[in-house]
Amino acid sequence: MVVMKNLHTFYFRTYGCQMNELDTEIMVGALQSRGLTKIEDEDNADLIIFNTCSIRDLAERKVMGKLGQLGRGKKKAIIGVTGCMAMAKKETLFRKFPHLDFVIGTNNITDLNTVLDEVLHGGKQVLKIEDKYEENLDYLVAKREDKVKAMVSIIRGCDKFCTYCVVPYTRGGEVSRTPTSILEECQKLADQGYKEVTLLGQNVNSYGKDHPEWGCLFHDLIYKLGAISLLKRIRFMTSHPIDITIELMQAIRDVPSACNLVHFPIQSGSNRILKKMHRIYTKEEYLHKVDLLNKIIPNVSLGTDIIVGFPTETEAEFQETYDIFKQIRYSIAFIYAYSPRKGTPAMRWKDDIPEEVKEERLQKLLALYSQIGDEQRAAILGSTVEVLVERFNRDQKLLKGRTTCWKKVIFPGDESMIGTLQQVKLHSFNHQTLLGDVVTRG
Ligand code: 5AD
Ligand code: SF4
Repeated sequence: MVVMKNLHTFYFRTYGCQMNELDTEIMVGALQSRGLTKIEDEDNADLIIFNTCSIRDLAERKVMGKLGQLGRGKKKAIIGVTGCMAMAKKETLFRKFPHLDFVIGTNNITDLNTVLDEVLHGGKQVLKIEDKYEENLDYLVAKREDKVKAMVSIIRGCDKFCTYCVVPYTRGGEVSRTPTSILEECQKLADQGYKEVTLLGQNVNSYGKDHPEWGCLFHDLIYKLGAISLLKRIRFMTSHPIDITIELMQAIRDVPSACNLVHFPIQSGSNRILKKMHRIYTKEEYLHKVDLLNKIIPNVSLGTDIIVGFPTETEAEFQETYDIFKQIRYSIAFIYAYSPRKGTPAMRWKDDIPEEVKEERLQKLLALYSQIGDEQRAAILGSTVEVLVERFNRDQKLLKGRTTCWKKVIFPGDESMIGTLQQVKLHSFNHQTLLGDVVTRG
């Protein structure tokens, strides 16, 4: 243990999904409000925190490696682990890493400053984990680096229990945030100059179902947020296919700021595997939703997550996933090899697909994804798209922004365009990035 009465600086490293990134922003805000300074140099920080992810084995191994490495040096900083690994591994982390000072679960991030005080004054390891989440987070304290777009949490946890997934255990059951609190935060963000919000939840479509007395389901929330005129774009993720309703599709169509990209993971194209995954829809039901989305929302773009090499997945079943991907032509896809997770129902099945076969299936899908992406980009060359300008590109010369369906566009322009919507005529593309020129000043 180090007993260090005066903390000045801290270093934060985030692993995993956007929900974790947002939790980090909230914790960074809380530390700054206590007078600490965020630094990027881990070696000189008085406090080091890893906000961790458990979704796949690789995510956990990265953090374990990092913690092991810190234990080998002479301990200078206070070290903490927060997030999903804290929930999955609890006090066993202290046994494995005696130099670790605190572990805070996903439902206790508001307790960070109290835990820190306990560590500083008590000089012993502190564990703060509760299984149930109580809506008590001060979202307004979040410290955002980005000035144009912000993530906003609307529902935490997940009740779906897909057989491969740790999220229902690491983040607990679904708890919606009140519409008033969400609207207040979004209005504040808009007043501060933010132009885009991404509404976050493991399953945003369940929003409000745990509080029928609010009379505000996900589509109602979209209409309410659509009334904030300074907000130019509303994004959301992720949507469980079973909960996507016609009312939601109509809201996306009717609210001009609602982006027409729907990320609703299929996971597999085989009915037998879908059943084994407990995804609670069939391929046919999923395709029916795709039809409705295409009919109701003009120019809708679809996104997905896919897992290859799920236990017992045959070559023919993988081919079904491949075929459906080709048919739907997703514009965004996150494709993963199955990774067995402790505590999930799928652990009872042997992880019987060899890693080489998983890798081969993964590469096949990635190649298809890339080919479809190139075709989609080629098809829109010559047309004009609306781009929300976010910042200068890494080269510092061209501006970078995204279309409503999340395509990345770069083009020449000046700093005053940052945070505005611009009409950009596309002339070419390089890998995933489209290149163009501004047509009219927005
Ligand atoms: N192995 C591989 N991928 C997984 N995902 C969730 N659990 C696992 C797992 N055990 C993927 C799913 C989910 C995304 C966030 O991560 O595709 O949609
Ligand atoms: Fe995990 Fe399934 Fe919940 Fe998504 S819907 S977070 S995959 S359990």
